[in-house]
Amino acid sequence: MKTPLRGIGFTFISYRSKNLLVKQKEKIMGRRKTEEEEDESERVEVFESIEDIPGIGPSTAAKLKELGYTTVEALATATVNELVSGGIPDKTAAKIISLARSSIEVKFVSALDILKQREHIQKLTTGSKKLDALLGGGLETMTITEFFGEYGTGKSQISHQLAVNVQLPEERGGLNGNVVYIDTENSFRPERIVAMAKYLKLDPIKTVENITVAEAFNSDHQILIVERLDEIIKSKKVKLVIVDSLTTHFRSEYLGRESLVKRQQKLNAHLHRLERLSKAFNLVIVVTNQVMAKPDEIFGMGAYPVGGHILAHRSHTRIYLRKARGEQGLRVARLIVSLDRPEGECLFKITENGITDVEEEAYAEEG
Ligand SMILES: Nc1ncnc2c1ncn2[C@@H]1O[C@H](COP(=O)(O)OP(=O)(O)O)[C@@H](O)[C@H]1O
Ligand SMILES: [Mg+2]
Repeated sequence: MKTPLRGIGFTFISYRSKNLLVKQKEKIMGRRKTEEEEDESERVEVFESIEDIPGIGPSTAAKLKELGYTTVEALATATVNELVSGGIPDKTAAKIISLARSSIEVKFVSALDILKQREHIQKLTTGSKKLDALLGGGLETMTITEFFGEYGTGKSQISHQLAVNVQLPEERGGLNGNVVYIDTENSFRPERIVAMAKYLKLDPIKTVENITVAEAFNSDHQILIVERLDEIIKSKKVKLVIVDSLTTHFRSEYLGRESLVKRQQKLNAHLHRLERLSKAFNLVIVVTNQVMAKPDEIFGMGAYPVGGHILAHRSHTRIYLRKARGEQGLRVARLIVSLDRPEGECLFKITENGITDVEEEAYAEEG
């Protein structure tokens, strides 16, 4: 019999558990499979790397890598058009995508036999119960969450906090996973991680160690980092990817009206890749976006700063941050579902220990 698997590495659900699930299903269905059927279920091929997929020779593999598809999981999320534009014939493209998908689907579908798909989504705490509640229990995996707001409103502080929180066990609101922090503004501070970790009684050194920081020097470099992410996500058990800030390089490099379209296209493709990673690996993705002060520019129909419409039209969660009047460190988070339809807001606080709730008596009339 053909061996469908060359070595069991990291997968959502390994081949072995897949077979276990099949057996469990049989048990539920109350019958044993005939030998022929059993053979059938063994025949689904699970590929560990793209080179294992029939139809991918060295030249196609090289083209795929150039396009940023370095793993089976990533290839499964590709579209035929993308591969064709990278010089792969459309028949080959359709075939290899389909093989990659079925290789992954075996794992998903088997799990779906027991769990509903919604149950795959996990939630990550922000550190503030009120902010978590506003988000329906925390930041979701398989989705991009965007924090946007003026300079100094807490986008980077929240990013640091999430990088710590994701390492907590699930019963404490974490995902028991590690972090990739893409830093575009040189604003990552390990000292802040140490302070936040200590407050949560985590080992500060280990907590810092579990964060892989990638400094992006310009927008192309930032894009490249994201294209290479799948390897590191696999090898380091990553559950959170942060891009702080998503838009700074794009804003400074693509100036003027004539480059606007190009900028938005690049940004769109970049976000698309992030979105697909979030789904393929069940990750939380956080991006920050610095915007100008004028509320009518943010919420109105007029010219919206960098990334505005592109970001708004992608299927993701957007949270607008602003300073609240009164106590230092007090902030307002507002959930934005569409540009002109606010969905409620809450207060939270940035302290030396990180992101926390505001005690009732400290509430200030903010304006
Ligand atoms: N160690 C700290 N203790 C208390 N508050 C802090 C600390 N570090 C930063 N902050 C707060 O966070 C703000 C900066 O937020 P930041 O996340 O860097 O903003 P941005 O939205 O520009 O990324 C500061 O103005 C301050 O209020
Ligand atoms: Mg910042």
